[in-house]
Amino acid sequence: MKAAILIGGQGTRLRPFTLESPKPLLPVLNRPFLEYQFQVLRTHGVREAVLCVSYLATAFRRAFGDGRRLGLRLRYVSEPMPLGTGGAVKNAEPLLRDGPALILNGDVLNAFDLREFLRFHRARRAELSIALSRVKDPTQYGLVLTDEKGYVKRFLEKPSWDEVESNTINAGAYLFEPPVFGHIPAGKTYSLERGLFPERLAAGAKLGGWVAPGYWIDIGTVEKYLQVHLDVLEGRTPFKPGDGARPLKGAVGARVAAGPGTKVAPFARFSGAVSLGRGVRVGRGAQLSDCVVLDGAAIGDGARLERCVVGARAKIGTHAVLGPGTALAGGSRVGDYSQL
Ligand code: GTP
Repeated sequence: MKAAILIGGQGTRLRPFTLESPKPLLPVLNRPFLEYQFQVLRTHGVREAVLCVSYLATAFRRAFGDGRRLGLRLRYVSEPMPLGTGGAVKNAEPLLRDGPALILNGDVLNAFDLREFLRFHRARRAELSIALSRVKDPTQYGLVLTDEKGYVKRFLEKPSWDEVESNTINAGAYLFEPPVFGHIPAGKTYSLERGLFPERLAAGAKLGGWVAPGYWIDIGTVEKYLQVHLDVLEGRTPFKPGDGARPLKGAVGARVAAGPGTKVAPFARFSGAVSLGRGVRVGRGAQLSDCVVLDGAAIGDGARLERCVVGARAKIGTHAVLGPGTALAGGSRVGDYSQL
Protein backbone atom coordinates (compact mmCIF):
# COMPACT_ATOMS: atom_id res chain seq x y z
CA MET A 1 0.00 0.00 0.00
CA LYS A 2 1.20 3.50 -0.84
CA ALA A 3 0.58 6.58 1.24
CA ALA A 4 0.06 10.19 0.20
CA ILE A 5 0.68 12.85 2.82
CA LEU A 6 -0.95 16.27 2.47
CA ILE A 7 1.59 18.86 3.54
CA GLY A 8 0.97 21.85 1.29
CA GLY A 9 -1.22 24.02 3.55
CA GLN A 10 -0.09 27.40 4.86
CA GLY A 11 -0.82 26.55 8.49
CA THR A 12 -2.26 29.99 9.21
CA ARG A 13 -3.48 28.99 12.67
CA LEU A 14 0.03 28.12 13.73
CA ARG A 15 1.57 31.44 12.83
CA PRO A 16 4.04 32.93 13.52
CA PHE A 17 5.97 29.63 13.46
CA THR A 18 4.59 28.59 10.06
CA LEU A 19 5.86 31.80 8.47
CA GLU A 20 9.39 30.35 8.70
CA SER A 21 8.69 26.66 8.33
CA PRO A 22 5.82 24.57 6.98
CA LYS A 23 3.78 23.07 9.82
CA PRO A 24 4.80 19.42 9.16
CA LEU A 25 8.49 20.38 9.42
CA LEU A 26 8.22 22.19 12.75
CA PRO A 27 10.29 20.37 15.32
CA VAL A 28 8.65 18.25 17.98
CA LEU A 29 11.31 17.41 20.55
CA ASN A 30 13.91 18.47 18.03
CA ARG A 31 12.75 16.17 15.20
CA PRO A 32 10.63 17.34 12.25
CA PHE A 33 7.02 16.56 13.12
CA LEU A 34 6.55 14.47 9.96
CA GLU A 35 9.23 12.01 11.05
CA TYR A 36 6.81 10.70 13.70
CA GLN A 37 4.28 9.97 10.97
CA PHE A 38 7.00 8.26 8.92
CA GLN A 39 7.67 6.07 11.93
CA VAL A 40 4.00 5.02 12.02
CA LEU A 41 4.12 4.17 8.30
CA ARG A 42 7.25 2.03 8.68
CA THR A 43 5.82 0.24 11.72
CA HIS A 44 2.87 -0.90 9.64
CA GLY A 45 4.84 -1.91 6.58
CA VAL A 46 4.14 1.13 4.39
CA ARG A 47 7.39 1.90 2.56
CA GLU A 48 6.33 4.29 -0.20
CA ALA A 49 4.88 7.74 0.30
CA VAL A 50 3.98 10.58 -2.02
CA LEU A 51 4.41 13.98 -0.40
CA CYS A 52 1.86 16.50 -1.72
CA VAL A 53 3.67 19.80 -1.33
CA SER A 54 2.87 23.40 -2.19
CA TYR A 55 3.58 26.07 0.48
CA LEU A 56 7.38 26.27 1.09
CA ALA A 57 7.68 23.15 -1.05
CA THR A 58 11.45 22.99 -1.41
CA ALA A 59 11.95 22.76 2.37
CA PHE A 60 10.61 19.19 2.37
CA ARG A 61 12.97 17.88 -0.27
CA ARG A 62 15.86 19.49 1.59
CA ALA A 63 14.79 17.81 4.83
CA PHE A 64 13.95 14.31 3.58
CA GLY A 65 15.38 13.86 0.05
CA ASP A 66 14.41 10.51 -1.45
CA GLY A 67 13.65 9.13 2.02
CA ARG A 68 16.33 6.41 2.02
CA ARG A 69 17.79 7.69 5.28
CA LEU A 70 14.32 7.27 6.81
CA GLY A 71 13.70 3.78 5.46
CA LEU A 72 11.09 5.01 2.97
CA ARG A 73 10.77 5.72 -0.73
CA LEU A 74 9.55 9.30 -0.97
CA ARG A 75 8.23 11.05 -4.05
CA TYR A 76 7.06 14.64 -4.35
CA VAL A 77 4.11 16.10 -6.18
CA SER A 78 3.83 19.85 -6.16
CA GLU A 79 0.87 22.16 -6.78
CA PRO A 80 1.86 25.56 -8.14
CA MET A 81 -0.69 27.01 -5.74
CA PRO A 82 -2.47 25.16 -2.91
CA LEU A 83 -5.50 23.35 -4.37
CA GLY A 84 -7.01 22.27 -1.07
CA THR A 85 -6.94 18.74 0.32
CA GLY A 86 -8.97 17.31 -2.61
CA GLY A 87 -6.99 19.12 -5.30
CA ALA A 88 -3.75 17.87 -3.73
CA VAL A 89 -4.92 14.24 -3.81
CA LYS A 90 -6.07 14.58 -7.42
CA ASN A 91 -2.66 15.92 -8.33
CA ALA A 92 -1.04 12.77 -6.92
CA GLU A 93 -3.49 10.39 -8.67
CA PRO A 94 -1.03 9.05 -11.28
CA LEU A 95 1.17 7.73 -8.47
CA LEU A 96 -1.65 6.23 -6.42
CA ARG A 97 -3.92 4.41 -8.85
CA ASP A 98 -2.62 0.87 -8.33
CA GLY A 99 -4.58 -0.20 -5.24
CA PRO A 100 -6.05 1.21 -2.08
CA ALA A 101 -4.16 4.37 -1.14
CA LEU A 102 -3.68 5.67 2.37
CA ILE A 103 -4.14 9.45 2.50
CA LEU A 104 -2.89 11.31 5.56
CA ASN A 105 -3.09 14.89 6.73
CA GLY A 106 0.46 15.97 7.47
CA ASP A 107 -0.43 17.78 10.67
CA VAL A 108 -1.89 14.93 12.70
CA LEU A 109 -0.07 12.45 14.83
CA ASN A 110 -1.71 9.15 15.46
CA ALA A 111 -0.66 5.76 16.60
CA PHE A 112 -3.27 3.94 14.55
CA ASP A 113 -2.95 0.33 13.51
CA LEU A 114 -2.93 0.89 9.76
CA ARG A 115 -3.25 -2.84 8.99
CA GLU A 116 -6.40 -2.96 11.08
CA PHE A 117 -7.72 0.10 9.23
CA LEU A 118 -7.18 -1.69 5.90
CA ARG A 119 -8.93 -4.85 7.17
CA PHE A 120 -11.88 -2.76 8.32
CA HIS A 121 -12.06 -0.95 4.99
CA ARG A 122 -11.93 -4.17 2.94
CA ALA A 123 -14.53 -5.93 5.10
CA ARG A 124 -16.96 -3.03 4.48
CA ARG A 125 -16.24 -3.07 0.70
CA ALA A 126 -16.20 0.68 1.06
CA GLU A 127 -15.24 3.00 -1.76
CA LEU A 128 -13.40 5.07 0.80
CA SER A 129 -12.96 4.90 4.56
CA ILE A 130 -12.25 7.60 7.09
CA ALA A 131 -10.40 7.02 10.37
CA LEU A 132 -12.23 8.62 13.28
CA SER A 133 -10.96 9.65 16.65
CA ARG A 134 -12.93 10.21 19.85
CA VAL A 135 -12.39 13.64 21.42
CA LYS A 136 -13.74 15.34 24.54
CA ASP A 137 -14.74 18.56 22.78
CA PRO A 138 -15.95 17.84 19.24
CA THR A 139 -17.17 21.42 18.62
CA GLN A 140 -13.88 22.53 17.05
CA TYR A 141 -13.76 19.64 14.54
CA GLY A 142 -15.67 17.96 11.73
CA LEU A 143 -17.94 15.41 13.37
CA VAL A 144 -18.60 12.12 11.53
CA LEU A 145 -21.60 10.03 12.57
CA THR A 146 -21.58 6.30 11.78
CA ASP A 147 -24.18 3.54 11.92
CA GLU A 148 -23.80 0.31 13.89
CA LYS A 149 -22.17 -1.47 10.91
CA GLY A 150 -19.39 1.10 10.62
CA TYR A 151 -20.66 3.12 7.65
CA VAL A 152 -20.73 6.91 7.69
CA LYS A 153 -24.27 8.25 7.92
CA ARG A 154 -23.70 11.98 8.38
CA PHE A 155 -21.12 14.77 8.46
CA LEU A 156 -21.40 17.76 10.72
CA GLU A 157 -18.81 20.57 10.49
CA LYS A 158 -17.86 22.23 13.80
CA PRO A 159 -21.17 21.49 15.56
CA SER A 160 -22.57 23.59 18.40
CA TRP A 161 -22.97 21.71 21.71
CA ASP A 162 -26.71 21.14 21.15
CA GLU A 163 -25.94 19.42 17.81
CA VAL A 164 -23.34 17.09 19.29
CA GLU A 165 -24.71 13.57 18.94
CA SER A 166 -21.40 11.75 19.09
CA ASN A 167 -17.75 12.54 19.70
CA THR A 168 -16.14 10.86 16.69
CA ILE A 169 -14.26 13.29 14.51
CA ASN A 170 -12.43 13.06 11.21
CA ALA A 171 -8.89 12.11 12.21
CA GLY A 172 -7.29 13.05 8.87
CA ALA A 173 -6.46 9.50 7.67
CA TYR A 174 -8.32 7.89 4.77
CA LEU A 175 -8.27 4.84 2.52
CA PHE A 176 -9.29 5.40 -1.09
CA GLU A 177 -10.06 2.77 -3.73
CA PRO A 178 -8.81 3.82 -7.19
CA PRO A 179 -12.26 4.81 -8.59
CA VAL A 180 -12.56 7.55 -5.93
CA PHE A 181 -10.04 9.67 -7.83
CA GLY A 182 -12.52 9.88 -10.70
CA HIS A 183 -14.90 11.83 -8.48
CA ILE A 184 -12.39 14.59 -7.69
CA PRO A 185 -12.38 17.51 -10.12
CA ALA A 186 -8.97 18.23 -11.71
CA GLY A 187 -7.18 21.56 -11.75
CA LYS A 188 -9.32 23.39 -9.24
CA THR A 189 -9.43 24.04 -5.53
CA TYR A 190 -11.45 21.33 -3.85
CA SER A 191 -11.80 19.98 -0.33
CA LEU A 192 -12.05 16.33 0.68
CA GLU A 193 -13.85 17.18 3.92
CA ARG A 194 -16.33 19.72 2.59
CA GLY A 195 -16.53 18.51 -1.05
CA LEU A 196 -15.77 14.87 -1.82
CA PHE A 197 -16.94 13.15 1.37
CA PRO A 198 -20.41 14.74 1.69
CA GLU A 199 -20.90 14.52 -2.09
CA ARG A 200 -20.10 10.79 -2.22
CA LEU A 201 -22.34 10.15 0.78
CA ALA A 202 -25.20 12.04 -0.89
CA ALA A 203 -24.62 9.98 -4.05
CA GLY A 204 -25.19 6.78 -2.05
CA ALA A 205 -21.55 5.55 -2.01
CA LYS A 206 -20.39 3.29 0.83
CA LEU A 207 -18.09 5.24 3.14
CA GLY A 208 -16.47 3.37 6.03
CA GLY A 209 -16.00 5.13 9.37
CA TRP A 210 -13.37 3.35 11.45
CA VAL A 211 -13.23 4.46 15.07
CA ALA A 212 -9.52 4.23 15.77
CA PRO A 213 -8.34 3.48 19.26
CA GLY A 214 -5.08 5.08 20.34
CA TYR A 215 -3.42 8.43 20.65
CA TRP A 216 -4.38 11.19 18.22
CA ILE A 217 -3.63 14.90 18.02
CA ASP A 218 -3.84 17.58 15.35
CA ILE A 219 -1.07 20.15 15.82
CA GLY A 220 -2.91 22.88 13.91
CA THR A 221 -2.80 25.56 16.63
CA VAL A 222 -0.10 26.88 18.97
CA GLU A 223 -1.89 25.31 21.93
CA LYS A 224 -1.92 21.89 20.25
CA TYR A 225 1.68 22.24 19.10
CA LEU A 226 2.67 22.79 22.72
CA GLN A 227 0.39 19.94 23.82
CA VAL A 228 2.03 17.32 21.61
CA HIS A 229 5.37 18.03 23.33
CA LEU A 230 3.79 17.63 26.75
CA ASP A 231 2.07 14.41 25.67
CA VAL A 232 5.27 12.81 24.41
CA LEU A 233 7.33 13.95 27.40
CA GLU A 234 4.70 12.83 29.91
CA GLY A 235 4.31 9.42 28.29
CA ARG A 236 0.78 9.74 26.89
CA THR A 237 1.88 8.60 23.42
CA PRO A 238 3.79 5.58 22.13
CA PHE A 239 6.47 7.98 20.81
CA LYS A 240 9.75 8.59 22.63
CA PRO A 241 12.05 11.59 22.43
CA GLY A 242 14.95 10.73 20.10
CA ASP A 243 18.69 11.35 20.46
CA GLY A 244 18.18 15.03 19.67
CA ALA A 245 16.21 15.55 22.90
CA ARG A 246 18.02 14.01 25.87
CA PRO A 247 16.67 14.20 29.44
CA LEU A 248 18.27 17.15 31.21
CA LYS A 249 20.29 16.05 34.20
CA GLY A 250 19.37 17.74 37.45
CA ALA A 251 15.87 18.83 36.43
CA VAL A 252 14.19 17.39 39.51
CA GLY A 253 10.43 16.89 39.48
CA ALA A 254 9.98 17.93 35.85
CA ARG A 255 10.41 16.24 32.48
CA VAL A 256 12.90 18.29 30.55
CA ALA A 257 14.40 17.30 27.20
CA ALA A 258 17.27 19.28 25.76
CA GLY A 259 19.01 19.33 22.41
CA PRO A 260 22.77 19.24 21.85
CA GLY A 261 24.68 22.35 22.87
CA THR A 262 21.97 23.59 25.25
CA LYS A 263 23.26 25.19 28.44
CA VAL A 264 21.30 25.76 31.64
CA ALA A 265 22.70 28.13 34.28
CA PRO A 266 22.56 27.33 38.02
CA PHE A 267 19.33 27.83 39.93
CA ALA A 268 17.13 27.58 36.83
CA ARG A 269 13.91 25.80 37.78
CA PHE A 270 11.63 23.61 35.70
CA SER A 271 8.17 22.26 36.28
CA GLY A 272 5.80 20.11 34.25
CA ALA A 273 7.30 19.25 30.86
CA VAL A 274 9.75 21.42 28.96
CA SER A 275 11.37 20.94 25.56
CA LEU A 276 14.58 22.84 24.84
CA GLY A 277 15.97 22.92 21.30
CA ARG A 278 19.58 22.81 20.18
CA GLY A 279 21.95 25.49 21.43
CA VAL A 280 19.40 27.05 23.81
CA ARG A 281 20.64 29.07 26.78
CA VAL A 282 18.64 29.30 30.00
CA GLY A 283 19.77 31.99 32.44
CA ARG A 284 20.40 31.85 36.15
CA GLY A 285 17.25 31.46 38.22
CA ALA A 286 14.95 31.37 35.17
CA GLN A 287 11.70 29.45 35.72
CA LEU A 288 10.15 27.40 32.93
CA SER A 289 6.89 25.53 33.21
CA ASP A 290 5.26 23.47 30.40
CA CYS A 291 6.89 25.20 27.47
CA VAL A 292 8.77 24.73 24.24
CA VAL A 293 11.90 26.72 23.43
CA LEU A 294 13.19 26.28 19.88
CA ASP A 295 16.78 26.15 18.60
CA GLY A 296 19.22 28.88 19.54
CA ALA A 297 16.85 30.87 21.78
CA ALA A 298 18.21 32.54 24.91
CA ILE A 299 16.28 33.05 28.15
CA GLY A 300 17.60 35.76 30.46
CA ASP A 301 18.34 35.43 34.17
CA GLY A 302 15.22 35.29 36.31
CA ALA A 303 12.81 35.20 33.35
CA ARG A 304 9.58 33.26 33.89
CA LEU A 305 7.86 31.28 31.14
CA GLU A 306 4.63 29.37 31.46
CA ARG A 307 2.74 27.37 28.78
CA CYS A 308 4.32 29.19 25.89
CA VAL A 309 6.32 28.57 22.74
CA VAL A 310 9.49 30.55 22.08
CA GLY A 311 10.64 30.65 18.45
CA ALA A 312 14.16 29.86 17.24
CA ARG A 313 16.86 32.44 18.05
CA ALA A 314 14.49 34.57 20.17
CA LYS A 315 16.03 36.49 23.05
CA ILE A 316 14.02 36.89 26.24
CA GLY A 317 15.39 39.58 28.52
CA THR A 318 16.25 39.39 32.19
CA HIS A 319 13.20 38.90 34.45
CA ALA A 320 10.74 39.01 31.52
CA VAL A 321 7.48 37.14 32.11
CA LEU A 322 5.80 35.19 29.31
CA GLY A 323 2.36 33.91 30.25
CA PRO A 324 0.17 31.08 28.92
CA GLY A 325 -0.56 31.21 25.21
CA THR A 326 2.45 33.32 24.28
CA ALA A 327 3.82 32.43 20.84
CA LEU A 328 7.01 34.34 20.07
CA ALA A 329 8.18 34.41 16.46
CA GLY A 330 11.67 33.23 15.58
CA GLY A 331 14.27 35.95 16.18
CA SER A 332 12.03 38.04 18.50
CA ARG A 333 13.54 40.28 21.14
CA VAL A 334 11.78 40.82 24.46
CA GLY A 335 12.76 43.16 27.30
CA ASP A 336 16.34 43.82 28.36
CA TYR A 337 18.33 41.23 26.44
CA SER A 338 21.63 43.14 26.40
CA GLN A 339 23.35 40.43 28.50
CA LEU A 340 22.39 37.62 26.11
P1 GTP B 1 -4.72 26.42 8.57
O1 GTP B 1 -4.40 27.47 7.58
O2 GTP B 1 -4.26 26.80 9.94
O3 GTP B 1 -6.14 25.94 8.56
O4 GTP B 1 -3.81 25.12 8.25
P2 GTP B 1 -3.60 24.25 6.91
O5 GTP B 1 -3.27 25.13 5.77
O6 GTP B 1 -2.56 23.23 7.24
O7 GTP B 1 -5.00 23.58 6.67
P3 GTP B 1 -5.61 22.27 7.34
O8 GTP B 1 -5.18 22.18 8.76
O9 GTP B 1 -7.04 22.22 7.03
O10 GTP B 1 -4.89 21.14 6.49
C1 GTP B 1 -4.85 19.78 6.85
C2 GTP B 1 -3.66 19.14 6.14
O11 GTP B 1 -3.81 19.24 4.74
C3 GTP B 1 -2.35 19.82 6.49
O12 GTP B 1 -1.35 18.84 6.66
C4 GTP B 1 -2.06 20.71 5.29
O13 GTP B 1 -0.67 20.88 5.04
C5 GTP B 1 -2.72 19.94 4.17
N1 GTP B 1 -3.25 20.86 3.17
C6 GTP B 1 -4.22 21.81 3.35
N2 GTP B 1 -4.46 22.46 2.22
C7 GTP B 1 -3.63 21.92 1.29
C8 GTP B 1 -3.40 22.19 -0.10
O14 GTP B 1 -4.01 23.07 -0.70
N3 GTP B 1 -2.46 21.43 -0.74
C9 GTP B 1 -1.76 20.45 -0.11
N4 GTP B 1 -0.84 19.77 -0.82
N5 GTP B 1 -1.94 20.17 1.20
C10 GTP B 1 -2.87 20.90 1.88
